[in-house]
Amino acid sequence: MSSRRDFMGMALGGFTALGGLGALYAMKKSWDPLPSVKSAGFTTIDLSNVPENELITEKWRGKPIFVLKQSKDMLAKAGDAEKARLIKVGDDYFLVAVGLCTHLGCIPAYDAGSKSFLCACHGGTYDSTAQVTKAPPPRGLDIPPFKIDGTKLVLGETGPEYDKMLADGTTMAV
Ligand code: FES
Repeated sequence: MSSRRDFMGMALGGFTALGGLGALYAMKKSWDPLPSVKSAGFTTIDLSNVPENELITEKWRGKPIFVLKQSKDMLAKAGDAEKARLIKVGDDYFLVAVGLCTHLGCIPAYDAGSKSFLCACHGGTYDSTAQVTKAPPPRGLDIPPFKIDGTKLVLGETGPEYDKMLADGTTMAV
């Protein structure tokens, strides 16, 4: 009887370990799904194969970074202030933003159906360019310093496109 219990315990333990490994793998996948290189405060992300309307979360200096390739209907809906928040790489437009709510720092969730972000902490919402659509967040998600290098984005370096966003108040420095 006790050996049967031992066996059951081992079997259950095995399942738990497998489940844990699966969860770890899923976490790694969702946090680092793009070909990216990290070194000394810089993260280089290759944007050439990013699918539309699918939120990808990268990491830069310990912060979550949202990457969201805009679809045609998202672009059609965006006004000038929203478009100013996007990064053009080749013919495509991307939202690249620090994934921390500008209210009190929770991580907003993206809903691909409504193409918007909801911060569950206090109900703030953002559109697909991470511009605020409902308070309390005081401003859109901040855009990290970036430099465009072909189809790649180097986070942590600053290029002219980022300098312009800072100068015209599209984003605050992070
Ligand atoms: S932290 Fe996001 S709405 Fe308060």
